[in-house]
Amino acid sequence: MRITIEAWRQENHDAAGRFETYVVEDATPEMSLLEVLDRLNDQLVARDVDPVAFDSDCREGVCGACGIVVDGRPHGPVPNTPSCRQHLRHFPDATHLRLEPMRAGAFPVVRDLVVDRSALDRVIEAGGHVAVDAGQAGDADATLIPHDRSETALDYAACIGCGACIAACPNGAAHLFAGAKLLHLAALEHGKQERGRRARAITGQMEQDFGPCSTYGECAEVCPADIDLNAVAAVNRESLRAGFRRKPD
Ligand code: FES
Repeated sequence: MRITIEAWRQENHDAAGRFETYVVEDATPEMSLLEVLDRLNDQLVARDVDPVAFDSDCREGVCGACGIVVDGRPHGPVPNTPSCRQHLRHFPDATHLRLEPMRAGAFPVVRDLVVDRSALDRVIEAGGHVAVDAGQAGDADATLIPHDRSETALDYAACIGCGACIAACPNGAAHLFAGAKLLHLAALEHGKQERGRRARAITGQMEQDFGPCSTYGECAEVCPADIDLNAVAAVNRESLRAGFRRKPD
């Protein structure tokens, strides 16, 4: 199977980028997008050409490192699937691929297809965690949590922080990402104790780097964790709740 690849090449953040065209002659439909890039890079290294830089770690949809834009769509043509799980056999036309980094003002290009997503880390540092000193760990079953609430927490904890929602958004908004953190932690007993402080910290930090939400909904279309638009609504809801509380939490 012969694939023509237009890949974004950019030496560093300050350099001008451009597309370069390569051909992989021996791809197979079973290959994932990253395996095609591996094959391309083998060819480039054999020709003494710099390989195309891209990120990956788990290659099984868990870590969120691998996101690239394929033919204008974050992660690729298969809906709600990370780049490492996009297989050529599911592409409408796998013979020609245009590969770019995740495009967003908050994600500067590091090199080729690699972007710096530390703006997401700053949101997590601001409030995407539980910071109360709760002493020693209690018995696992000492705090009973209703099944539907634990399911909700797990659904929103599934966010892998890939940044595709931001790259898909015309405004570069991070509401789906931030809302997933807020809903996940607000659903659990240990997360409730700093619910208001968390909402203020997360939204405040989010607004430093990311754009406003106009509820286009493109974010949920590409999210590999299937985070739904309730997360977007949660950003406003949790912020309002934090602002109107008589006794701040
Ligand atoms: S490499 Fe980990 S999610 Fe794709």
